[in-house]
Amino acid sequence: MEYNKTKISILKGDITEQKVDAIVNAANNTLLGGSGVDGAIHKKGGRIILEQCKKIGGCPTGEARITTAGNLPCKYIIHTVGPIYSSNNDRNEKLLYNAYYNSLELAVNYNIKSIAFPAISTGAYGYPVKEAIIIVFPAVIDFLDSNGSIDNIEFVLHNDEIFTVYNEYFTQNLGIL
Ligand code: APR
Repeated sequence: MEYNKTKISILKGDITEQKVDAIVNAANNTLLGGSGVDGAIHKKGGRIILEQCKKIGGCPTGEARITTAGNLPCKYIIHTVGPIYSSNNDRNEKLLYNAYYNSLELAVNYNIKSIAFPAISTGAYGYPVKEAIIIVFPAVIDFLDSNGSIDNIEFVLHNDEIFTVYNEYFTQNLGIL
């Protein structure tokens, strides 16, 4: 699917294997690693990622920071922090929106042309995928409405259930664009 000259695709797989300019990490505020996507990226990417994250010194929820990709087949890691769903924070939606939007903005600042996103906050942070999806695509479309410099955006899902939710939403909503 194309939107404003940007190719948008839904893939099932492991984000650490994506050969794009940047992959997005679902990090925490410390940027010191964790499990899930964060654990996989640090484990495969190597210590240099953690060393750069320590120098950055953390990332507020909804914001994004960038490091090298170490041993991974991409050039950059964009670390963003999604909201913790159980925080019942009425800002959850805005924070999740910002995590996607700010990651794209940072990518454009580094002249990144292809970027892969995991399903931020839908794992350890407990955000129900069907609630998250109605935030994800509007954030991406809003960004692309004002910025057409990214050629390729991938959503890389790690399991069938999440892939199905993304695919159904994508077909019903973006398929008509
Ligand atoms: N590739 C793509 N997607 C993945 C991968 C992978 N290798 N590993 C996990 N996922 C998926 C999960 O299935 C989930 O749908 O990424 C989504 C986000 O899950 P988490 O990685 O748990 O991230 P999140 O829910 O944002 O929680 C962040 O978890 O790992 C810690 O340090 C991290 O504290 C932070 C919290």
